[in-house]
Amino acid sequence: MAIEIEQANTVELSKIAVSKTHGEDSPYFAGWKAYDENPYHETENPSGVIQMGLAENQVSFDLLEDYLEKHSEALNWGKGTLSFRENALFQDYHGLKSFRQAMASFMEQIRGEKVKFDPERVVLTAGATAANELLTFILADPGDALLVPTPYYPGFDRDIRWRTGVNIVPIHCESSNNFQVTPQAMESAYKEAEAKNLKVRGVLITNPSNPLGAIIQREVLEEILDFATRKNIHLVSDEIYSGSAFSSSEFISIAEILEARKYKDAERVHIVYSLSKDLGLPGFRVGTIYSYNDKVVTTARRMSSFTLISSQTQHLLASMLSDKEFTKNYIKINRERLRKRYDLIIQGLKKAGIECLKGNAGLFCWMNLSPFLKTQTRESELDLWKSIVRDVKLNISPGSSCHCNEPGWFRVCFANMSEQTLEVALKRIHDFMEQRKLGRSN
Ligand SMILES: Cc1ncc(COP(=O)(O)O)c(C=O)c1O
Repeated sequence: MAIEIEQANTVELSKIAVSKTHGEDSPYFAGWKAYDENPYHETENPSGVIQMGLAENQVSFDLLEDYLEKHSEALNWGKGTLSFRENALFQDYHGLKSFRQAMASFMEQIRGEKVKFDPERVVLTAGATAANELLTFILADPGDALLVPTPYYPGFDRDIRWRTGVNIVPIHCESSNNFQVTPQAMESAYKEAEAKNLKVRGVLITNPSNPLGAIIQREVLEEILDFATRKNIHLVSDEIYSGSAFSSSEFISIAEILEARKYKDAERVHIVYSLSKDLGLPGFRVGTIYSYNDKVVTTARRMSSFTLISSQTQHLLASMLSDKEFTKNYIKINRERLRKRYDLIIQGLKKAGIECLKGNAGLFCWMNLSPFLKTQTRESELDLWKSIVRDVKLNISPGSSCHCNEPGWFRVCFANMSEQTLEVALKRIHDFMEQRKLGRSN
């Protein structure tokens, strides 16, 4: 039983502790609550809420489980072995060399071996959440700003702003050009920051984009890098979804652009990566910062003391990721399965009369319900969202929680459930749309 302790709230907490910049009061997190209170289960709670607000990848667990079954050495140490004792004591912030090597090589593999990563530049962190915050601490001072294209991952409000005191100034992207970043949009965000007396320290992009599920095109990446160079600011490329691009040849990493430019201006560029999405292991908390700037590497490594990965996890993953045959097969099959899921949801939504932005990556699609809003406002979007959570019992993320400028867009995740559950969700959406049509014609 819980121990009740009276909370008179007479002792003060720090400004960070009481600040609202963690963003957890947004609909993005409110929808999770609705799911937690009444979670869907195929047999035990078939009328419960289906969680489509969580960018989790569960489509390839069987491949990971097969690997672990066949390679017990990844999990077992053996009594009295040197390996167990060494790893039990290991807490060097450089991380296990074998793991950094395996991580660098996995990141190369995901990019179709088109780029090289130096294991000495791989800084290990407890997930991309820690990597993004840690980089922000290094690149900017409290009160400074990072420019972030919208719509963006709602967690950035917490990761970039909360504890660092850094601001996010949005680069507003529009549906008329598929939400691509343009030089004009970057320039006007920069001016907006200047008008607010904020010092801009960098641009943070997600490629492939969360929530759009789209790969950033080469020309656009070039323009973003050119912009950062012109303004003499940093460029952080969060490439956490790189292995979820449906085709490795379509995905262009910022690393590729730098290699083509013979690493000119590379010192302003930092890549964030994690195994949360591509391997579906958010619970393992495994992320990296790959920086082309020596000082950033050294400082990030020092700071990573606060956010290390357990040596046991490193040991397991070093073994798994250095098995090239396994990783090659995993990457290929995982991509195929995600694309199949994507096709399934896009077709299902189309049948219900709903269009999505054309995607080529990720664990979600970006659904356009703007034709179904009463008015083209954020309020109307949230009204529709509430009725989808309450009546259709689907938790999806409204675009406004991703700071989308245009009302009516929603992020819908499709890889965190079984195919059968996805079919149930699609049927619910279909029925909802039919009822709306009937309601209008009556
Ligand atoms: C763009 C982006 N960055 C970072 C994260 C956080 O990932 P991690 O679980 O590795 O902390 C997410 C998770 O949804 C994300 O979508």
